[in-house]
Amino acid sequence: MKASSDFIPFALPHIGVEEEEAVLAVLRSGWLTTGKVARALEAEFAAFVAPSGAELHALAVNSATSGLHLALEAVGVGAGDLVVTSPYTFTSTAAVARHLGAELRFCDVGTADYNLDPSQLERILSAEPKVKAVIPVHIGGLPCDMDAILALCRPRGIAVIEDAAHAFPSRTKAGFAGTLGDIGVYSFYATKTMTTGEGGMIVTANAAYAKRMTTMRLHGFDREAWDRYTSKKAAWYYEVVEAGYKYNLPDILAALGRVQLAKADRLRDERVAISDRYNTAFSGLPGLALPPRGTGGSAAHAWHLYALRVSGSDPGTRGRRDGLIEALSAAGIGSSVHFIPLHLMPYYAKRYSLSPSSFPLALAKFESSVSLPIWPGMGETAMMRVIDAVSTWAATPRSQGGADA
Ligand SMILES: Cc1ncc(COP(=O)(O)O)c(C=O)c1O
Repeated sequence: MKASSDFIPFALPHIGVEEEEAVLAVLRSGWLTTGKVARALEAEFAAFVAPSGAELHALAVNSATSGLHLALEAVGVGAGDLVVTSPYTFTSTAAVARHLGAELRFCDVGTADYNLDPSQLERILSAEPKVKAVIPVHIGGLPCDMDAILALCRPRGIAVIEDAAHAFPSRTKAGFAGTLGDIGVYSFYATKTMTTGEGGMIVTANAAYAKRMTTMRLHGFDREAWDRYTSKKAAWYYEVVEAGYKYNLPDILAALGRVQLAKADRLRDERVAISDRYNTAFSGLPGLALPPRGTGGSAAHAWHLYALRVSGSDPGTRGRRDGLIEALSAAGIGSSVHFIPLHLMPYYAKRYSLSPSSFPLALAKFESSVSLPIWPGMGETAMMRVIDAVSTWAATPRSQGGADA
């Protein structure tokens, strides 16, 4: 798919004829909901991310939000429990804890990666005995310091649920981001590195968690619709063994996912290539700071987001960041801001009596960041237009909305 000639969108899915044909085949097959195509996607996804020889369960779901909800439920999070996560994330990461009646403790990010800061996490875990789960978020596709987070959580018996919504595929030395904790959850939302429009995938090596999430994913049934359809036993009979949810991924979307998965490495490599071009073009420009790249090599970052930062911590930082967004917009370039931290959101601010200064690093990151277009297929011309617009802004005097002091 191509962007219209003038406007460069912030994100664009990479959908081709193969995806169209795969979806058509399902539409013509007579089976639209969750069935053998979703099963195949699960098997292929597990094979992609599993450490060699390890058994990994993969469960396709209709969103990462659903997956995070199922994951917290499976590890037993409920009323009276505490869940710790970063404020520098999308609301789903935290809202699912509230769905289960648990309360939240936010832990600020570190400046090396803008992920959950292990030293601050240690202070929280030492003071809070009721923490049942920690949700590290691999922001933008850059993996958290999972060694440090696991070293804090394992001895305390705290479940680690990775929010890997941005992080497919991020291949670290220890394994893929999303496979390092107890349960990992990926998003296949329209802007993600691999998409089914809406959708997601849960992975876990724990068979009991997988069984629980399979039951809760579809109404608390004792067997899934596809099993009933293909079973030799009476097809109409099922038992409801729990008050479950409706979180399954239909075959129409799974078909899209199978094609995207087959090219996931190529799609990620294209994102890496664009991030390299941006880094080369922007390094040394006045008033700008490059996004962290991590130390794990190029395959260890999914580059779902390229969040450039306007440097400085003075009160004018946010105004300069907004000036950059305006300059991009005037040049016909879409951009976005990731994330408005949760402690600025009225719901979380009120419930936990938080002020903007409660999490200064998440706040500073938000106020200085602008996410640039980074999508496979954007092409040389679009990339050069983004580079030119940012460079022109950097050379513009501050008095005229630019960066140059
Ligand atoms: C960090 C993070 N976690 C979870 C989600 C939820 O993903 P989904 O839209 O698939 O429910 C998002 C959505 O963008 C996200 O950014």
